[in-house]
Amino acid sequence: MNRAAAPAPSPSRGRLRPAGSLRIPAHRASSATLAGAYPFLAGSPCTTGALVGVDAMTGGPFCFDPWALYAAGELTNPNAVLAGVIGQGKSALAKSLAVRAIASGRRVYVPGDPKGEWSPVAETVDGVVVRLGPGLPTRLNPLDAHGAARDMAHGPRLRLLAALAELTLRRELRPAEREGLEAAITSVEIRPDPTLSDAVEALAPGTADDGRDLYFALRRLVRGDLAGMFDGPSTQVLDHAAPMTVLDLSGLGSDDDALAVATACASSWLEHAIATGTAKRWVIYDEAWRLMRSVPLVRRMQAQWKLSRAYGIANLLVLHRLSDLDAVGRAGSEARALAEGLLADCSTRIVYRQESDQLDLTRTALGLSTAERDVLTALPRGTGLWKMPRRTHVVHHHLSAAELALFDTDAAMRGTP
Ligand SMILES: Nc1ncnc2c1ncn2[C@@H]1O[C@H](COP(=O)(O)OP(=O)(O)O)[C@@H](O)[C@H]1O
Ligand SMILES: [Mg+2]
Repeated sequence: MNRAAAPAPSPSRGRLRPAGSLRIPAHRASSATLAGAYPFLAGSPCTTGALVGVDAMTGGPFCFDPWALYAAGELTNPNAVLAGVIGQGKSALAKSLAVRAIASGRRVYVPGDPKGEWSPVAETVDGVVVRLGPGLPTRLNPLDAHGAARDMAHGPRLRLLAALAELTLRRELRPAEREGLEAAITSVEIRPDPTLSDAVEALAPGTADDGRDLYFALRRLVRGDLAGMFDGPSTQVLDHAAPMTVLDLSGLGSDDDALAVATACASSWLEHAIATGTAKRWVIYDEAWRLMRSVPLVRRMQAQWKLSRAYGIANLLVLHRLSDLDAVGRAGSEARALAEGLLADCSTRIVYRQESDQLDLTRTALGLSTAERDVLTALPRGTGLWKMPRRTHVVHHHLSAAELALFDTDAAMRGTP
């Protein structure tokens, strides 16, 4: 194996160094299915970047670095989508891409981890975990200016509070509501560090109907079931230099509203983090299908992806299946178009096993050939089709023993009552 292709080992991360030799059995079971799939047998090996695993067709190493491949003209952007049925190893792949990228100086943000499975990974690489949930001590203030001058903070604050209100109202704000919100924010911005509680107080409804819905929508974050997480000064200053930052939302349980609100708040911090610093960074949306149920969030993600282009960010979107997008909006709707735009913006498409009823949708959504599509039902765990504009590989993701122990979500499932 070409060891030079693996990331430079770092002494403090020794536990997660990729194994020196790969003892991966050849994929005999799937080779019959793959026999006619000429595209995977042709072409040069992909040896740029950190080691991912073994090319199932050639037995050679397969490496990946979206920035280097982009610079080499192999990719049209550094973003990637990763889709596959539950339990196939999507998160394990995302985590090892993250850890191995950190070993070569990259940074990683996970702006919403609904299962809390990234926290041990962040702790292992000396990263930061922000845990949000009812009863937990952490608060994030969505009105934080993040170091921006006061007049620069107004627009982002308005956009974020509008998104939070739209999330809890489940509809777009009416023009009069937007105006009311803007007036409320302006009135509290005379304070040095305004909070959401201040803004909600300023919105307290009079006799007019216009502000009532808005007031009750945002009050939910201050007095209702979402109280205690976003309604005071931030308790944690986010460290832009940390190798990995994870927003652990497992304390929110299955509350999708809370999840969306927390992710929206995190996204404002992320926007700021993206616009500062020069290191190459992964932004990983594990369980993205849950986040993408919320239209205001998809809108924010799209804005962030536009921003990413200028700042060397590679986004990784993890989905189960392409029909997850149905939850975003009906075909032809604005929300759906936004979500499809995010996918179209992923130059690397990694597809793990798909159910047979998903094959055609996957093929059209990700631009696969029929031969590539036909591989998808036969893929064993940890093995995926990697489609890039100029090359396709079937790759078995190799995990070292230390990584396997760290990424083992089966154990977490067994521990769940
Ligand atoms: N490449 C791999 N080799 C061996 N085991 C793997 C591999 N990828 C994942 N696993 C194991 O499979 C289980 C499920 O993986 P996970 O990444 O959580 O799946 P998903 O995110 O697709 O639901 C984990 O316990 C993990 O340890
Ligand atoms: Mg997962």
